[in-house]
Amino acid sequence: MSGSTITPWVVGNWKMNPMQADAKQLVQNLKKLLQDQEIAESACQIGIAPISIALQSIQAELQSANRHIATVAQDVSRIAGTGAYTGEVSAELLKDSQIEFVLVGHSERREFFGDAPNILNEKVQNALNAGLTVIYCVGESLEQRENGQAEQVVLQQICDIASVVNAQQWEKIVIAYEPIWAIGTGKTASPADAQAMHATIREGISQITPIGQTMALLYGGSVKPENAVELAACPDINGALVGGASLNAESFYKIAQAFANTK
Ligand code: 13P
Repeated sequence: MSGSTITPWVVGNWKMNPMQADAKQLVQNLKKLLQDQEIAESACQIGIAPISIALQSIQAELQSANRHIATVAQDVSRIAGTGAYTGEVSAELLKDSQIEFVLVGHSERREFFGDAPNILNEKVQNALNAGLTVIYCVGESLEQRENGQAEQVVLQQICDIASVVNAQQWEKIVIAYEPIWAIGTGKTASPADAQAMHATIREGISQITPIGQTMALLYGGSVKPENAVELAACPDINGALVGGASLNAESFYKIAQAFANTK
């Protein structure tokens, strides 16, 4: 079964960008585009993941948009609750600030910040226990792909979290497949390769939970307006996690439009 009836998601991961004034302008431009030509919430869910200190100001800016745009945290602490953990932001503190979504397991966190599987399990568990929806990122390196290990690596990353997600909590998981070699490089996986991996992911998750059949599977890695239509046409690609192109309101809007139009 394909996932083509799933409402798509388009989420902008701003990473460690931009400066405050530019962020404000970016949101204003996006709101204006959505006002001039609305994208129905039922056609595409839209989210923005700003830097942590801007979560609340961006959320406030987004409140005056003519449709719901979710504010998404880029990361969450491995520690739950509150306490003496300098520099950390827990899932409960995000929830307390009305943040409902969080990215976990982005390859940049895995590579530069030591987010190993055991740490990611703690983050996923804390986020789910606090009632957040987790956008869990998976993806293989170029070397792993060239060695024919891509599917195995990605399925293992999914199996890694299976021990901490209970039967109901799978409803609160979205998977983002982001091949590392496609992130920020301008190289996108071909729609056929991306679809093939998404079908593999859907099959793998469906063996763990029946929710796998209806779970949103996002693609990430150099998504731009020029390739969004083709990616959106793939039955198991239910949205995009957008880096660079989300820093331009028009590009991001067009990507959301591409997914809204094809589903
Ligand atoms: P780019 O769209 O810049 O390749 O980044 C993708 C990404 O990592 C989104 O999380």
